[in-house]
Amino acid sequence: MITKPTIDRIMEATDIVEVIGEFVQLKKRGANYVGLSPFANERTPSFTVSPAKGIFKDFSSGKGGSAVTFLMELEKFTYPEALKWLAKKYGIEVEETVEAFENKEEENHRESLMIVSGYAAKFFHESLLETDEGKSIGLSYFKERGFTNDTIKKFELGYSPDQWEAFTGQALKEGYQQQFLEESGLSVKRDNGSLYDRYRGRVMFPIHSFTGRVIAFGGRTLKNDKNVPKYVNSPESEIYHKSNVLYGLYFAKKAIREEDNCYLVEGYADVLSVHQAGIENVVASSGTSLTVEQIRLIGRFTKNITILYDGDAAGIKASLRGLDMILEEGLNVKVVLFPDGHDPDSYVRNFGTNGFKKHIADNKKDFILFKTDILLKEVGNDPIKKADVIREIVESVAKIPDSIKASVFIKECSYLLQIDERALLSELNKIRMAKAKKDSQQQTSRPAPLDEPHFFDEPEIKVEKDESNQEKEIIRLLLLYGNKVIDWDGIANTYIGPFMIAELSDVEFEYLPAKKFTEIYRKEVENGVLPDEQYFIHYPEKDIVDITVNLIATKYTLSENWYEMHKILVNDEQSNMKATILGAIFHLKKQKVGKILQGLRNELQKTNVEADQEILLNQYMQMKKVEKTISDYLGSVILK
Ligand code: UTP
Ligand code: MN
Repeated sequence: MITKPTIDRIMEATDIVEVIGEFVQLKKRGANYVGLSPFANERTPSFTVSPAKGIFKDFSSGKGGSAVTFLMELEKFTYPEALKWLAKKYGIEVEETVEAFENKEEENHRESLMIVSGYAAKFFHESLLETDEGKSIGLSYFKERGFTNDTIKKFELGYSPDQWEAFTGQALKEGYQQQFLEESGLSVKRDNGSLYDRYRGRVMFPIHSFTGRVIAFGGRTLKNDKNVPKYVNSPESEIYHKSNVLYGLYFAKKAIREEDNCYLVEGYADVLSVHQAGIENVVASSGTSLTVEQIRLIGRFTKNITILYDGDAAGIKASLRGLDMILEEGLNVKVVLFPDGHDPDSYVRNFGTNGFKKHIADNKKDFILFKTDILLKEVGNDPIKKADVIREIVESVAKIPDSIKASVFIKECSYLLQIDERALLSELNKIRMAKAKKDSQQQTSRPAPLDEPHFFDEPEIKVEKDESNQEKEIIRLLLLYGNKVIDWDGIANTYIGPFMIAELSDVEFEYLPAKKFTEIYRKEVENGVLPDEQYFIHYPEKDIVDITVNLIATKYTLSENWYEMHKILVNDEQSNMKATILGAIFHLKKQKVGKILQGLRNELQKTNVEADQEILLNQYMQMKKVEKTISDYLGSVILK
């Protein structure tokens, strides 16, 4: 675990505008900064950063929090990863304490694999640039393919010498353990237990995780021998799950976000050439068919995928089915074909950046229409084949979750297929119906919710909602005034937070974040600490940060003339501080009592046993008294 002093130092050093400014173009507006949401497609900026509070709030997606939260949301970092990113940015040394033994061991294991992979990348890179064999074989190959020094450095390309133990021997000599060399796949075990290099005489492509650490390799042979596999890749390991990784994503993600589009190519070489040509939003699935995980990974950065195919018809047809998956994930898919004999790599080298861009602009097609085209080519005059094609296309369209988008495709396909739009729509509805039926069957196999008379539903839902509002109001007041003092009935300097917490000790919070929040508050008060707004903004748990930011950052409080408005609002609240606080507390209590009374009434109705009825009735009368006391109190003390 990262130590508290380290976290404090990181928080102190962090300038939220600077951090977010690395990912979002921010403009100053009043006391705040605004920009376009990186989490949602929007044209008018609703993404607001308040440097004074150290928070951001995105009114499009509802996300909000500190700089740490931002990195977690955008880069999908874990809490410690986000802290480490900030520490690195601000040159802060990270102190960590030893965690529970098991956890630490697992983390150590992964860390060891990453360290040995990082070491290997360095070894291969140096052997490419600094050894005679590397220069004359590996480097000259890369140069011949047109890769610049910058590209070679950026992607840490390398060369593994054509010997049995060049890498393994060196790694062992430097103290890297057999276990990790073997598990990472860098070395292979012989029957006699000794290790040898997996990659020999190959140029090396390190594969980076999307946070930039080397987790695997692809090694390409330089021989033209059909019996030698062209690429040898790392096996699956604790740090490398092939189906979750996209080659080049670490170097592409910024551009993907900016361009709001991701180019998907097949090979390492395609990524490098296209990236080098200045089109940086490009990743590769590395020869395997695309997985759902990979699609979701892209989906974190953009909802638009453009697939760049080299022109091998059989391969394309085989992959069409798999692409329906992208539609299902709600992403937009476009497809570009390259002329026979060309792949993105060769095309961009031959026709340059502009030629490449032009080819894409002229040839890009929506996936559904592309698929329709391809399948139609095979139909000829065969009506049965045509019916099959129609069904297949409509099935693809049915995968699109957005029904407006789907109906647009139906229109276009009806033209391409020369079929009445209504016929397609009825086919679409049939498929949807079948799917809905299937879904609802899956649902009914779960225990059904109790059938209650309708008139019970409404008031109950309403009470619940009000309840969470009342509970939220308490949290809002704790955040805003908890560490302020007021004179309370002649007792000077009463801290509002501890007072409220004590007053609420008999109240059971039901809205989970509020319950958690008050428990944290109570604990800190017991430790003699008064947690403030900043404490909760930087709390390491998302639901706590969420409730905090949602309560302190409304569009209204963050708007330009917030200060003026806020002063008025706060003055109003403050001049009546006692009423505000007691009002919130007693409204909540009244609500809880009301709920208890309702429960007792229900029980009374159910039981016929006289003795039970008497006990219940007694409890009921007592609660009624409590309710009356609270009501009187609210009536007399509270003005609003
Ligand atoms: P390609 O054969 O198109 O490779 O395979 P490439 O990267 O374009 O290489 P060049 O241009 O011939 O040098 C596409 C991808 O399929 C995977 C690799 O990830 C490769 O980049 N692949 C291919 C393998 O994993 N193993 C193989 O034997 C071949
Ligand atoms: Mn290629």
